Amino acid sequence: MGFLSLLFITPLLFGVTVCQYEFDDFEDDYENEIDHEYPRIFHHNPGIENVFPYFNTPNECAKECFCPPNFPIAMYCDHRKLQKIPSIPSHIQQVYLQYNDIKAVHLESFVNATALKEIDLSHNKINSHMIDTGVFAKLSNLAQLHLQYNLLEEVPYPLPRSLERLILGFNQISSLHRKAIEGLVNLTMIDLCSNYLEDSQFKGIQFSNTNNLMQLNLCSNRLQSMPPELPSSLMYLSLENNSISVIPNNYFQRLPKLLALRMSYNNLQEVPHNAFNIPGLVELNLGHNKLKQVFYIPRSLQHLYIEDNEIEVMNITLMCPSLDPLNFSHLTYIRVDQNKLTAPLSTYAFFCFPHIRSIYYGEQKLSTSQRTQLRTPVFRRYLTPEEYEEAEDGHEDQDHENDIRGREDDDYFDSYLY
Ligand SMILES: *[C@@H]1O[C@H](CO)[C@@H](O)[C@H](O)[C@H]1NC(C)=O
Ligand SMILES: *[C@@H]1O[C@H](CO)[C@@H](O)[C@H](O)[C@H]1NC(C)=O
Ligand SMILES: *[C@@H]1O[C@H](CO)[C@@H](O)[C@H](O)[C@H]1NC(C)=O
Ligand SMILES: *[C@@H]1O[C@H](CO)[C@@H](O)[C@H](O)[C@H]1NC(C)=O
Ligand SMILES: *[C@@H]1O[C@H](CO)[C@@H](O)[C@H](O)[C@H]1NC(C)=O
Repeated sequence: MGFLSLLFITPLLFGVTVCQYEFDDFEDDYENEIDHEYPRIFHHNPGIENVFPYFNTPNECAKECFCPPNFPIAMYCDHRKLQKIPSIPSHIQQVYLQYNDIKAVHLESFVNATALKEIDLSHNKINSHMIDTGVFAKLSNLAQLHLQYNLLEEVPYPLPRSLERLILGFNQISSLHRKAIEGLVNLTMIDLCSNYLEDSQFKGIQFSNTNNLMQLNLCSNRLQSMPPELPSSLMYLSLENNSISVIPNNYFQRLPKLLALRMSYNNLQEVPHNAFNIPGLVELNLGHNKLKQVFYIPRSLQHLYIEDNEIEVMNITLMCPSLDPLNFSHLTYIRVDQNKLTAPLSTYAFFCFPHIRSIYYGEQKLSTSQRTQLRTPVFRRYLTPEEYEEAEDGHEDQDHENDIRGREDDDYFDSYLY
């Protein structure tokens, strides 16, 4: 019973939303917003003043805003129906202006604010042409800039070289200056999800010197092909909900550090067999495409999502061409529901992927006449060396595969049917 409920919970945990940010490693800037939440130090010392005795003139604060007396480097101006950005005093390092009615970003507000490290201007009504040229570039300590949920038509340019995180999701951005990103040496993450970017914006885009860029989110844009020339430092790449139909041969050879790749809701019909042979890849999401065939699974991969495709046969030999007893695949979870599978997975899968804990098979897209009883074992223990050898034999001789399958009822597998 515990097992059954786990099966029902897994699909809820995985792959429900398109722009999946549910894992900590794929940081979520929309959910971690600092709204109403003061820095921890403030919480911990609610009544104690001057815990930072080294701030000499911490009292200055815009009259519209709140500067916590014992965390005086922060200025909170969020949720106040403000139409203008107040003047920001020179000692302020973090300014929170989200959820207002701000339409413009003028130089005056920032003339003295040279210490700023973080600006949150999300959930406002800012147009690109209402941002004074160079207003951000002057802030030579700025590390985080939040501008999600505005009305921007282009990526702000120029930006300060100190910038580390640039959050621009949910705007109307269709234009990216060729040099906007160039030279941002400390940039680690850019979020451009839910904008209007097309392929042409990425032609000739310079990612030169962005050697620290780890995460690029481009979900829900209008891309039809893979962006060229991405920096080799990337670890997380999100391209969900575009119209990408082709992954060029060897595309990911230039991204050897990739840990997670999300490409659900695209138009992929086929991918090169070796496309995802990326040595450290841990998560691969290709759900909601039009794939007909499976592909090589790198040993490092832990989570594979290929639900809602057109796959008729899970050819495990394609996924796992050889077994290496010293170097097993790390795969623990496969989601294959809403394909066109008519048979359970070959039991060879459990030799190739001995760490599998759950296969979410769910419903398949079959005509009622095809809708046979599809049942598959989902949990099993690790292989003993003898079992491993048997699997090897069975694999080499394809005719043996059915023999192995026929043994499901033995204690060979802890097979559970659902
Ligand atoms: C900037 O600082 C100067 C000197 O402290 C002050 O006179 C001026 O009013 C400030 N400007 C703004 C826009 O806050
Ligand atoms: C980049 O970050 C490093 C380490 O925090 C810092 O020393 C350096 O000044 C930053 N570079 C720029 C251009 O701000
Ligand atoms: C995909 O993106 C479009 C906008 O490009 C959006 O309207 C739609 O809700 C997104 N689909 C999903 C499943 O998120
Ligand atoms: C699986 O793929 C291998 C290699 O392409 C092929 O030889 C084999 O016939 C396929 N098996 C099935 C069941 O399609
Ligand atoms: C395991 O396989 C990977 C990929 O083929 C390889 O890079 C790695 O060196 C192997 N490790 C061992 C211990 O054989």
